[in-house]
Amino acid sequence: MHKNIVILGTQWGDEGKGKIVDFLSSNSAYTVRFHGGHNAGHTLVVNGKKIILHLIPSGLLYPNVIGIISNGVVISPFELVKEIKMLEKNNYFISQRLFISESAPLILPYHVAMDLAREKKLGINSIGTTGRGIGPAYEDKIARRALRIGDLKNIKKLSKKLEVIVDYYNNQLVSFYKEQSISYKKILQDLLKVRDIVYNMIQDTATILHKAIEDKKRIIFEGAQGTFLDIDHGTYPYVTSSNSTIGGVITGTGVGPKNLDYILGITKSYTTRVGKGPFPTELFDETGDYLSKKGKEFGSTTGRKRRTGWLDGVALRYAVKINSLSSLCITKLDVLDDLEQIKICTSYKDVNTSQIYKDFSIFNLENISPVYETHPGWMKKTSGIKKIEDLPEEARNYLNRIEEIAQIPIDIISTGPDRSDTILVKSLFF
Ligand code: IMP
Repeated sequence: MHKNIVILGTQWGDEGKGKIVDFLSSNSAYTVRFHGGHNAGHTLVVNGKKIILHLIPSGLLYPNVIGIISNGVVISPFELVKEIKMLEKNNYFISQRLFISESAPLILPYHVAMDLAREKKLGINSIGTTGRGIGPAYEDKIARRALRIGDLKNIKKLSKKLEVIVDYYNNQLVSFYKEQSISYKKILQDLLKVRDIVYNMIQDTATILHKAIEDKKRIIFEGAQGTFLDIDHGTYPYVTSSNSTIGGVITGTGVGPKNLDYILGITKSYTTRVGKGPFPTELFDETGDYLSKKGKEFGSTTGRKRRTGWLDGVALRYAVKINSLSSLCITKLDVLDDLEQIKICTSYKDVNTSQIYKDFSIFNLENISPVYETHPGWMKKTSGIKKIEDLPEEARNYLNRIEEIAQIPIDIISTGPDRSDTILVKSLFF
């Protein structure tokens, strides 16, 4: 039985995971963010109204769903409170049903200052981060000096730890990076202001999830970013600082692999990437511009223009294996509606030796060019179609070919931003 579902991005993020989490959450009891932080941007359209969430699990827009931000997430308490208030303004009241792991590390202003200072110093070699302090916050976690949200429960201890850590960062910021110092007092004051709002949300979320599993409640694990931004398996160093692949669910929540019943990979019908780093199928022509415009490919967190390209079958096969995906959801199929021809990359060719590579290797992305197969477009509107049989034949052929390349089925197709623009090929809940 597919009780619990993991939703992961199979590309460089921005695959449209938020919409699918939201779609599937109507049938679930819990929705869990397990890694990353407010670098993510999940855009949801409910009854024509757009809501962008960065930190709060998307499924919480349903009134009966319980949200968990587990230990694998790095939390800016100020952004968290901002988001809770934004939701309240939009008539979503979540503070009684959002629980945050006491072990989740905090992102504080010195992390943001450090992220920005480092990027500035790197100049043309910068990563292109979202500037949200994600990398430095994870560094603190691994270096065993992080302040965690549970520390808000003991202000005396927190203030001592904070003083030491602010000093540690100010040394670097001022002496090495020649930036302004950060005020310890200001951070402490600001933390005291948000503390009361989040205090009761701070819980042992692993135990909450174990109980939910015992009670046979359905859980959705909501991935952020995507496979190729994973710190271990992505296009390092042009990655984020967490595990956005399947392993991140296990370490990031305390839920074991036996309880992950179904792993759904979200794949956009073409590819995008924000920030720097390799992107084999990137387009620099009119089609690239078309995808960018029609797909509204601008970052929902930073507003940056996303780089665009064709679907990369080599990368997709890798994502299937790394995450042991059960099936795929193809999103934004409608963006391809007006194209006469659609390409899929099926292998890479070494531009010097002409050797063909069928497998993705993060060490072999320089000096390769994509080998494409070309499919006829359907040149018809697909949004609003409810059954796969009603899609144009060329669209069905394109989807069949993706299944062949990925060697797993497509269970969901999304043809627009609204909840209703979704074709459920197979029910995921048995
Ligand atoms: P960081 O996560 O802010 O450290 O950024 C590292 C890289 O990951 C940069 O290339 C970002 O653009 C990218 N990134 C981080 N979060 C997202 C996301 O939610 N969608 C797409 N790219 C992201």
